[in-house]
Amino acid sequence: MSAISISGLHKRYPRVHALTGIDLEIERGEFFGLLGPNGAGKSTLINIVAGLTRFDTGRVTVLDRDVVSDYRSTRRLIGVVPQELAFDPFFNVREVLRIQSGYFGLRANDAWIDELMTALMLNEKAETNMRALSGGMKRRVMIAQALVHKPEVVVLDEPTAGVDVQLRKSLWTFIRRLHREGHTIVLTTHYLEEAEALCERIAILNHGEIVALDTKHALMARGIGHTRRVCITTQEPLGSLPEGLARKVLRQEGNQIELQLDKTTDSVIAVLDALRSRGAVITDLSMEGADLEDVFVELTQRQKP
Ligand SMILES: Nc1ncnc2c1ncn2[C@@H]1O[C@H](COP(=O)(O)OP(=O)(O)OP(=O)(O)O)[C@@H](O)[C@H]1O
Ligand SMILES: [Mg+2]
Repeated sequence: MSAISISGLHKRYPRVHALTGIDLEIERGEFFGLLGPNGAGKSTLINIVAGLTRFDTGRVTVLDRDVVSDYRSTRRLIGVVPQELAFDPFFNVREVLRIQSGYFGLRANDAWIDELMTALMLNEKAETNMRALSGGMKRRVMIAQALVHKPEVVVLDEPTAGVDVQLRKSLWTFIRRLHREGHTIVLTTHYLEEAEALCERIAILNHGEIVALDTKHALMARGIGHTRRVCITTQEPLGSLPEGLARKVLRQEGNQIELQLDKTTDSVIAVLDALRSRGAVITDLSMEGADLEDVFVELTQRQKP
């Protein structure tokens, strides 16, 4: 049984064919990434899985339950954090979470609510009204809200959009914990390094169509064979370089060198060691190279036919 199963899914809005025949199976326990440029159809797809948006043709199930005909049971199995912040300004954080628990008939849910608030660092804001929270705080409440009923499948539509670096890191930790505890996680994000860090398998959506679907490693490997550029700054100007390194130099100016390294055979660490062994003190290092971002750009820059 798949966590989420989608077949032959089409969705048309009056002006746009938002999903043009999606087939996708997400396994139980997977950490799945859904990437794509603005307007690709990610949120449309997620909202359909959540039972919030109608579709034209196709079939969508969550843990074998049909999201249309068995809406009530799929709602219990899935927790969705929507992209748009939507909240009732008159309730405080704890009230929002209690009300949400009430929708699922969970009356004595305070222990879990407290655990969620702790994990999401919301404790201090428990009695604060929603309208008085910052955007990042509201985002955290929406994540807690999607999890009040401990759904097996957790879908997060850009949970870290507009969220500062520190919170992003703590959200990652929390989402990783949910995954370790057996939840299936589906994440959309515009931060490719986030998908690189978290997801096991990734689909790239473009113009309502899946243009790539593979493990993260396989997708990133498409960039292999490419080289990576490494720029190193040292405290003192570097003199002549060892033969092995000199061949890889693209540019050498004063205390900066730029090298072209083969991603598969050259190790950045070995280069640094070679420089250090000649007494160089390295003060800065930057790298550019084929990674998920290259693959993403290559697959999504094509214009709609
Ligand atoms: N309610 C709606 N009515 C009409 N068109 C819509 C509606 N919702 C989305 N669309 C259109 O459907 C397409 C897909 O939108 P969607 O929001 O799913 O993209 P997305 O991949 O989530 O983008 P983003 O990265 O900006 O969140 C876009 O062309 C959008 O304009
Ligand atoms: Mg979206």
